[in-house]
Amino acid sequence: MEGGVSRLVRLVEELVSIPTYALLGSAGGRIVYLSTKEGVVSLWSLDPASGETARLTEAPVSGAAPTRPESPHVVFTRDVSRGRELHRILYADAAGGEEKPVSDAPPMRVFALAFDGERVAFTGATAEEMAIYMARLGGGWEKLYSLDTMAFVTDVEGDYIVGYGNLRHDPRTNEIFVYRISTGEMEVYTPRDGSNNKAPRLSGGRVLFESNFEGRSRLYVYDPDSGVLERAGFSHGDYDAYDPVEHDAYGWHEGIVWAVAKKEGRSRLFLDGREVPTPRGTIHGVPAFLHGRIYVAVSNISEPPRIYEASPGSGEPRVVVDNRLPEWIAERLQRAWFARYRSFDGLWIPVYVVEGSSERPGPGVVYVHGGPWSEVRDMWSVMLASIAAAGFNVVAPNFRGSTGYGDEFRTMDIGDPGGRDLGDVVEARRWGIEQGILDPSRVAVMGYSYGGYMTLLAMGRHPNLWRCGVAGASVADWEEMYGMSDAIFKKFIEVLFAGRRELWRERSPSTYADKVSAPLCLIHPQNDTRTPLKPVLRYMEKLLDHGKVFEAHIVPDMGHVLTTMEEAVKMLLPALIFLDKHLRAGAEPSTPPAP
Ligand code: 4NP
Repeated sequence: MEGGVSRLVRLVEELVSIPTYALLGSAGGRIVYLSTKEGVVSLWSLDPASGETARLTEAPVSGAAPTRPESPHVVFTRDVSRGRELHRILYADAAGGEEKPVSDAPPMRVFALAFDGERVAFTGATAEEMAIYMARLGGGWEKLYSLDTMAFVTDVEGDYIVGYGNLRHDPRTNEIFVYRISTGEMEVYTPRDGSNNKAPRLSGGRVLFESNFEGRSRLYVYDPDSGVLERAGFSHGDYDAYDPVEHDAYGWHEGIVWAVAKKEGRSRLFLDGREVPTPRGTIHGVPAFLHGRIYVAVSNISEPPRIYEASPGSGEPRVVVDNRLPEWIAERLQRAWFARYRSFDGLWIPVYVVEGSSERPGPGVVYVHGGPWSEVRDMWSVMLASIAAAGFNVVAPNFRGSTGYGDEFRTMDIGDPGGRDLGDVVEARRWGIEQGILDPSRVAVMGYSYGGYMTLLAMGRHPNLWRCGVAGASVADWEEMYGMSDAIFKKFIEVLFAGRRELWRERSPSTYADKVSAPLCLIHPQNDTRTPLKPVLRYMEKLLDHGKVFEAHIVPDMGHVLTTMEEAVKMLLPALIFLDKHLRAGAEPSTPPAP
């Protein structure tokens, strides 16, 4: 393959300057979305009639609440701690103008928020506790309810705040909650013990949510006043015929239920059960309904997000905001496909492949996604695109514990992180070789966050399988990390391990630092408060003590979540230069110096 650092610099620069788009809905007669168009995650709005756009924020945005069509305001969060994820909540007008603070609430980790046009309900974490809060635009704020578990606010309207989480303290289930603002009563609701219930949305005092209590995940409507539960009924049959596995989003539009339903890493939009045709891939965010029209942002692995106008039953969606790759990059991303392989114990594992190398078998990367409750899907990913466009074949398994394939599959890693899920990653390499995609002598393992964790574990427990490894924002030691975590991430680790602390040592990469034998590249944001740097520094000391070959890139003024293109360059470029050096045909494996 064509090598050279300058080529990689050009590649990364071109890729990070491809904007992303994710819709938040409509507000003030405009479509509102998050985009990286000017180099930072920012809020934008668009008048689809004139095509005129407005940039609503300057400094990077961390998160935003779905908009309310009847309100001109857009509510969002911003990290004010150089990446430590202490957020302030602000709002802007959808037409533009100055952004303003929602209230003077102290900065904290805001991990979910909802907006009803006047009030913002949110779940926030400090070092000590998680709680539900309420703030008024330009007014005061109050703590409403202390949570002793991981739970997320998803909507606020009238007398209710609703959300869901691990409310019964069973690590394998989620329940919804209905909080009555006037009385302070908290109802935890589940249709059946042991079921998973998620992301409730309110309309006229009724609660729309996803549940798997009858088997497959479906949408239900619950009335908290009468206690009556009904299946969401549709007038059209497309939704049932599609038979989705999960939902990315849903809600009501003028009393009619819409759903972004998903299966095998792709999503489709349904309105009253009727499909609204959209291009193949993933719908980013929610649909925006405006002046009788429907707008969606859609991408796939080989094509970055575009904004489309779509309508039920009619043919081709119309491009409203286009987005194109340079030809030389598009060519490298053409061969992308989905498959399943059988893992060591017979379990079928879904996997995405992007053949970016001109060789087959060629130099390749087993890419391990983060989360772990996340997935690689048919969706634009600057990380996957950069590895493939740099000329490598990428095998990206959705190891057990991934989302997208049902709750039974998703919960298979609970009580077993770094166990059978790591087995699935090892099997992905074997499968990629069997398929003739991966050259067995030139396979790297790479990932960010939980994927960085799995990378380090794979390098220490299966050292002979990898030519090299790249671990971004990784977990090196569970006990050390737990000690540094705030209230929500302590809970996260407890749920992930199902309380089995006795596994922490066995499942920590630090236990196997002396076993690493291939070159390792560690990239870490200095101010990361999810996967903190300190345990990784200690891991590096162990690598040094054992004379291991590694390189380390510690990126200052940056946290776990990337919000600027500059940050993306700082994470991606060292990774690609390292892969290029170690996976190039004929490259000699580095010999560790004598300790
Ligand atoms: P993620 O980061 O992969 O980006 O979701 C993580 C943060 C925390 C933990 C794992 C992954 N944890 O186990 O605490």
